[in-house]
Amino acid sequence: MNIKDYLEQKRVEVDRFLDEVTPPAAMPPATLHDSMRYSLLGGGKRIRPILTIASAEALGTNPPGLMAAACSLELIHTYSLIHDDLPAMDNDDFRRGKPTNHKVYGEAMAILAGDALLTMAFDLISRPDLMKGCDPVRQARIIQELAFGSGNMGMVGGQVLDIQAEHQDIDLLTLQNIHKQKTGMLIRAAVRMGAIAGGANDRQLDDLTGYAEDIGLAFQIADDVLNVTGTREELGKNPNTDAERGKKTYPTFYGVEGAKQLADACVSRAIDRLSSFGSTADPLREIARYITSRRS
Ligand code: IPE
Ligand code: IPE
Ligand code: MG
Ligand code: MG
Repeated sequence: MNIKDYLEQKRVEVDRFLDEVTPPAAMPPATLHDSMRYSLLGGGKRIRPILTIASAEALGTNPPGLMAAACSLELIHTYSLIHDDLPAMDNDDFRRGKPTNHKVYGEAMAILAGDALLTMAFDLISRPDLMKGCDPVRQARIIQELAFGSGNMGMVGGQVLDIQAEHQDIDLLTLQNIHKQKTGMLIRAAVRMGAIAGGANDRQLDDLTGYAEDIGLAFQIADDVLNVTGTREELGKNPNTDAERGKKTYPTFYGVEGAKQLADACVSRAIDRLSSFGSTADPLREIARYITSRRS
């Protein structure tokens, strides 16, 4: 399989679905919908929804409601980026190749667009029309995964640790925990949601969870590396911002090459976790490799 083609095909499907379920920009409250669409559509790798789809595929399934479940993650992720870029947080001007949401719509609207995307995620994954045919017990478990991965014990909790670590002399274990929580937990939810939707047994769910935890850490280490090595054109966001904000990252501890090697080791471990799966898990294996080879 060609991972570039796979990712591109899935990205197009995710984009189309997101476009369909998000209210038109002219629908009142129009400024809110315009602001939501501005950040959500026309940018982003869509790696979290693709992981949900690929996890269900690894089990040889395409269960009902999968696309809605997958796209709920992108709504949460986009909200987290809008808020992450706010002046009170990372204070970034550029995201997904465009000025950040608050630069265009103002801080109040950016906060509200984030709030609305977060709430819309739970609407999407609860909608009877979109989730038709999904076993109700599985659906409840999937919704709980989304909430747990996003909230105080997941992404939001990690963002808190990340903010509190600015200009602090944190140790490596602390940094690893920040990364596992702020980025890893939503990626973990993405994989588990696909696995649960696809009817994974306990052993399969454990293996896929281990895979997700390893690629989650690799993903944020790669983000740290790209923050040092990438260009604004490649990344669609400004580089060198971590150093400017006094953030200790993997390259701070290990240098760029050392950090890359560590990310590669996480990817190898992740692939090893899939040893009980056949070729249906090849997309997951290739996504793991892509995470450290990407330039954006
Ligand atoms: C960026 O996420 C923020 C992190 C959690 C590292 P992505 O690299 O997935 O950003 P998009 O969605 O492609 O813009
Ligand atoms: C973002 O982490 C993690 C989120 C949960 C949004 P960063 O702040 O390191 O990501 P970028 O570099 O701004 O995309
Ligand atoms: Mg941040
Ligand atoms: Mg940031």
